[in-house]
Amino acid sequence: MLDKLCLLSVLPLLAIASPSPPRGASNFAGSTTSFAFPPPNVTATIPDPNFPDATAVNFFGPTPTGDEAAAIATAPVLAQVDSAFPLSRPDTSDKKGSKFNVLRQWGNLSPMFSNDADAFGLPDASPLIPEGCGITQVHLLHRHGARYPTSGSAPSQFAAKLHNATAGAGFSASGPLEFLNAWTYKLGAEILTPFGREQLYNLGVGFRVRYGELLKGFDDLPVWRTTSEERMVDSALQFAAGFFGVQSYQTSYHELIEIEAQGFNTTLAPYDQCANANNNVSALGSIMSSKWAAIYTVPTVKRLSKSIKGVNLTATDIIAMQQACAYETVALGFSSFCNLFTEEEWEQFEYFNDLSFWYGNGPGNPAVAAQGVGWAQELISRLTQTRITNFDTSVNGTIVSSNTTFPLNQPIFVDATHDTIISAIVTAMNFTSLSKSGPLPTDHIQKDRQWIVTHISPFGSNMVGQVLSCPASDKPTHIRFVLNDAVVPLTGIKGCKADKNGLCELSSFISGLQQRIGEIDYQFDCFANYTVPTPDNIVDGRFPPALRNATA
Ligand SMILES: *[C@@H]1O[C@H](CO)[C@@H](O)[C@H](O)[C@H]1NC(C)=O
Ligand SMILES: *[C@@H]1O[C@H](CO)[C@@H](O)[C@H](O)[C@H]1NC(C)=O
Ligand SMILES: *[C@@H]1O[C@H](CO)[C@@H](O)[C@H](O)[C@H]1NC(C)=O
Ligand SMILES: *[C@@H]1O[C@H](CO)[C@@H](O)[C@H](O)[C@H]1NC(C)=O
Ligand SMILES: *[C@@H]1O[C@H](CO)[C@@H](O)[C@H](O)[C@H]1NC(C)=O
Ligand SMILES: *[C@@H]1O[C@H](CO)[C@@H](O)[C@H](O)[C@H]1NC(C)=O
Ligand SMILES: *[C@@H]1O[C@H](CO)[C@@H](O)[C@H](O)[C@H]1NC(C)=O
Ligand SMILES: *[C@@H]1O[C@H](CO)[C@@H](O)[C@H](O)[C@H]1NC(C)=O
Ligand SMILES: *[C@@H]1O[C@H](CO)[C@@H](O)[C@H](O)[C@H]1NC(C)=O
Repeated sequence: MLDKLCLLSVLPLLAIASPSPPRGASNFAGSTTSFAFPPPNVTATIPDPNFPDATAVNFFGPTPTGDEAAAIATAPVLAQVDSAFPLSRPDTSDKKGSKFNVLRQWGNLSPMFSNDADAFGLPDASPLIPEGCGITQVHLLHRHGARYPTSGSAPSQFAAKLHNATAGAGFSASGPLEFLNAWTYKLGAEILTPFGREQLYNLGVGFRVRYGELLKGFDDLPVWRTTSEERMVDSALQFAAGFFGVQSYQTSYHELIEIEAQGFNTTLAPYDQCANANNNVSALGSIMSSKWAAIYTVPTVKRLSKSIKGVNLTATDIIAMQQACAYETVALGFSSFCNLFTEEEWEQFEYFNDLSFWYGNGPGNPAVAAQGVGWAQELISRLTQTRITNFDTSVNGTIVSSNTTFPLNQPIFVDATHDTIISAIVTAMNFTSLSKSGPLPTDHIQKDRQWIVTHISPFGSNMVGQVLSCPASDKPTHIRFVLNDAVVPLTGIKGCKADKNGLCELSSFISGLQQRIGEIDYQFDCFANYTVPTPDNIVDGRFPPALRNATA
């Protein structure tokens, strides 16, 4: 019943009798509400003779097509993702109207914004094609858009704890927390939010405007890939709808949906097949980030505890409330949790995320390069037009052995994946500028780090491999990678020289990456029975080869 509340408030003419709960009464705090559309038992019949489709009506008017755009090569300046409309940008509790953008402090829960040029250490580089070069091919790897929390998330547990407390007599919230008395938990789980759909649609439109010209090189329909989870399929379709338009996307390309589940190989969700991605080894991310949370939340717990009775706030609750700010904002457009926290507390929360990814899904975890290596092998296969024949990683041999499901000669490749896999792939590819700060400490913020998850794996994150010809011709000579609109140095890859535009000669890149792939021992890192060395000084996502014998 509660779930109809908001519908009733916007449709006052619907005189449906419904007991109206006392607004503001604390016994509703933290209760879960939900709603699904369309109304029960209402389904569209397609085709419906009452509503013939546009082809049946057939009065389209003139339909000349213009030429393709190629803004990445022709625009004088790069247009950037610099807003998250229609999300409200909250103030912090300490500084109203400051430049500080809370939306960009949420790590993997932030919406994607274009990174500053120097995010990864190349302040003079632009994603625009360097003077004198041409572009021959792109490899896009993107994350899904903004979603609800994953199942059993901290915010849902916080709501349950709060709601449970209202059963007793002593619960009340006041001051900055007063909204909790009437707060209900409105979030679903796992699937995209409307804003998340917008992000991927916009990514598709943006990709057409930047790279549309490359469509001229296709002699068959594109084959693009995603995985089978609802939000992954939804994201891929939104991208295609933005790229091709909703009238024609279904007939303009093929979507290959790889199964994301235990027992199935796919490089876009390799954790299901890697034992050490699901045990104490992967738990390191939450162990290390919890150490930091236990420190930074102490003053926050003390401050906010003054405004709540009947609940003892913990470090976990503070994290849950900071996450609730992010999740409610990307789902509902705003959140009362956001301005509970200071600028400093948001920076501390961001660092919490960076630790979680560094030690759980990045350079500091020994089973992470192994998870990213399969996609790197597929990249080499595409760049060299050579089929993979040795299957000893998460590569799905059935999919990549077929011209139909894994064509090698596309001008535009598009793969959809997850936050933790983008971070695994940049680790597998030895993008060492991201890890050059060394192991992240858990007792204070490492200020000069480039491992900032907001810059690497936000909602709608995208990494573009640009294959270039310098000087411009149809023969590719160079490659570089652009992560959320900032160019990444390739100097971690043997043979790639320092370059202010992030370019590496294609042949050097291929042999350097092949060498790196050879360094990664998928079977050992994913399946051997080891404990992570302490202190954990790993910076390249592999179990240290020198310590292997001690483990066996
Ligand atoms: C929906 O249809 C089913 C089967 O016809 C029926 O049992 C059910 O009561 C209907 N529900 C509503 C809300 O009308
Ligand atoms: C629910 O509240 C009771 C006391 O009112 C407490 O003993 C119990 O641990 C609480 N459960 C949860 C899940 O918070
Ligand atoms: C490879 O992918 C196909 C299609 O998703 C699936 O049917 C097959 O089981 C996969 N193979 C392995 C070994 O995971
Ligand atoms: C994880 O570590 C804990 C304690 O260190 C141990 O009790 C537990 O059995 C381990 N679990 C696995 C799956 O190895
Ligand atoms: C909060 O902590 C105090 C002190 O440890 C304890 O007496 C009280 O029962 C706790 N309250 C709740 C709701 O758990
Ligand atoms: C699936 O992955 C495993 C490695 O985990 C590999 O040994 C196996 O050959 C792969 N199977 C196929 C059909 O791709
Ligand atoms: C795949 O395509 C290549 C190049 O077009 C062709 O040489 C090869 O025979 C094809 N392989 C299969 C199995 O169709
Ligand atoms: C990858 O980076 C490490 C430094 O973290 C370096 O020692 C190694 O040689 C690099 N591998 C390749 C193949 O470039
Ligand atoms: C891993 O090694 C530990 C200690 O040597 C042992 O207790 C445990 O059973 C092993 N686990 C597996 C899955 O082999």
